[in-house]
Amino acid sequence: MQIVHLSDIHYSDAYFIPEIADSMVDSINLLEPDLVVITGDLTENGFSAEYDGVKRFIDRIKCENKVLVPGNHDSKNAGYLHFEDLFENRFSSQSFMDVTVVGADSSQPDINEGHIGRENYGWIKEAFSGENFKVFALHHHLVPIPLAGRENNVLVDAGDVLELLNRCKVNLVLCGHCHIPWVWNLNNMLVVNAGTLCSSKTRGKTTQCYNLIQADNENSDGNWKVRVSRVFSKGNMELVTEAVM
Ligand SMILES: [Fe+2]
Ligand SMILES: [Fe+2]
Repeated sequence: MQIVHLSDIHYSDAYFIPEIADSMVDSINLLEPDLVVITGDLTENGFSAEYDGVKRFIDRIKCENKVLVPGNHDSKNAGYLHFEDLFENRFSSQSFMDVTVVGADSSQPDINEGHIGRENYGWIKEAFSGENFKVFALHHHLVPIPLAGRENNVLVDAGDVLELLNRCKVNLVLCGHCHIPWVWNLNNMLVVNAGTLCSSKTRGKTTQCYNLIQADNENSDGNWKVRVSRVFSKGNMELVTEAVM
């Protein structure tokens, strides 16, 4: 099973780089992924025209199974209303083959801080009650990562969400937000951050990229073998982490 995780498109006249976007779409389509997860900041300002543009862009990614969550930029200017029109649910739980993906909107209108909220813990726990490979997708950071500056990018309820996901035996958490690709392995749960896919908003010396997650349970021993790689706009790929869980 192949999961493509991309984030932070920031569709806008100012920051979206069409040439890099084109090469990223071509490279993703060549992989023929089973699932594509997009963790927010689709737009720069949440404007209607930006949403229309990013919808056209996302439609070029050939995959029947896509899960999207909004980011803080998408909720600016009441942009969450356009998100709901074009992509339906800001919170979702879906299963594809052996995978259950829960997507949660961690943004709040015109506030950069992220939160999930106690009111959502119950249905998230319910959604992860089976034995599938479990993926949780959100925009903000679940744990701090390097180069993020003064730490105010972690969910305000990060401790409780971490404990919840750990208790639910979640295998993979996918985040975006600060445009820094990074992976932590916490209690056998991989917390994977993505860089920006195709915007000029790169931080430090990072470059545009997306994550490729390969998860297999071929040995029928109940364990998943998981490989996380980064794919860059020139098509080069770098293996970052391997884990058995
Ligand atoms: Fe962003
Ligand atoms: Fe963000």
